Amino acid sequence: MSPLKERVEDLALFGGPPAFPSQKHVGSPNIGDRRRLLQRMEDILDRRWLTNGGPYVQEFETRVAGLLGVKHCVAMCNATVGLEIAIRALGMTGEVILPSFTFVATAHALQWQRIRPVFCDVDPLTHLIDPAKIEALITPETTGILGVHLWGRPCDTQAIEAIARRRGLKVLYDAAHAFGCGRGARKVGGFGDAEAFSFHATKFVNTFEGGAITTNDDDLAARLRLMKNFGFVGYDDVGYIGTNGKMTEIAAAMGLTSLESLSQFVAVNRRNHRLYRESLAGLPGIRLLDFDDVADHNFQYVVLEVDGGKAALHRDELAQVLWSENIVARRYFFPGCHRMEPYRSLDPGAAERLPATTEVAARVLSLPTNTGVDPHDIEVIGRVVRMALSQGERIRRRLAETTPKTPIVVPHRKIEVDLA
Ligand SMILES: Cc1ncc(COP(=O)(O)O)c(C=O)c1O
Repeated sequence: MSPLKERVEDLALFGGPPAFPSQKHVGSPNIGDRRRLLQRMEDILDRRWLTNGGPYVQEFETRVAGLLGVKHCVAMCNATVGLEIAIRALGMTGEVILPSFTFVATAHALQWQRIRPVFCDVDPLTHLIDPAKIEALITPETTGILGVHLWGRPCDTQAIEAIARRRGLKVLYDAAHAFGCGRGARKVGGFGDAEAFSFHATKFVNTFEGGAITTNDDDLAARLRLMKNFGFVGYDDVGYIGTNGKMTEIAAAMGLTSLESLSQFVAVNRRNHRLYRESLAGLPGIRLLDFDDVADHNFQYVVLEVDGGKAALHRDELAQVLWSENIVARRYFFPGCHRMEPYRSLDPGAAERLPATTEVAARVLSLPTNTGVDPHDIEVIGRVVRMALSQGERIRRRLAETTPKTPIVVPHRKIEVDLA
């Protein structure tokens, strides 16, 4: 039984025992049928085919392409390298427009190739790139748009692709969060020129580390395959500059095992989302992002918005309460890429054109969910949040008096290397 949290004094922040004996994380991995995984691992060892486009990678690519209704799936070692390869294969150069409210890898994948990320504001309700703000950012240097299907909600692909057609731009989507999600009858995977998935351990489908680029473009797929394998066109010939973006057999074995449990993962995520919604209903200043309007959503994230003006605590104060209870809620994707290096030095004025990003980044808090979290955990987390918000004034006073035991603001350490 978790310790009851009825009074401010019961909070771990002020000396009570934490609600959980060990940490509850956002994105604790979804693990499918471990017997199937171990069988596949035995096969891999028996075959002595560990990487370089083995049978499990081929099967994984075929199954993913089939599930998403897209012609090609090119498996990669992770989504970041996948994005880098796709950006290069698409011929993007100069400047590319993307949201700042995303995981920093989206921007890094561009900057790594000396392409300038131009940050666009988001829609404050969906947290997605706002198509109405894109055109004003287009310059003669712009070669593409990199949309992010944040939290699994597809971007406004119609509006983005209409702009791209009109202005002759390439469109790539970061679909790291959106495996299995769709718009109407269409699944994410076939939008734009290409889409990049992450199969990192924290993602809906995981391969420990992994990713994939999906596309309906045959030539692009051929280039992607070449580029992720050093550019090799045969045993001894190289036709293009390449890198090593290959997925291993063991990663594909985990991916195939994950795919077999998709419906169970969604059912658990959906249940968790519903329980959180019920337990946090009616709290002033608290909004839980809803995905009921998204076709086949994976519900991989439970995203709270804490409106510091209306809720009894600010987002960071609530996070501090939760962390001390071993509830490791995350401020994804605070503070926005434009406020991280090298971008804040390269584009110091970016914040002025990103008011919605600033607002959203100050409100968002992701809560632990997925198959590592059960209904009792959610009840406990919900009770802590409710109690903390009902006692906001007292908590704030005591926080001001005491030195917090669990500061969530990690001191900034500037590394003096010019990588821009
Ligand atoms: C939106 C987004 N893009 C890209 C990535 C990078 O994926 P990977 O870890 O597979 O490189 C992540 C998360 O890891 C992400 O959340």
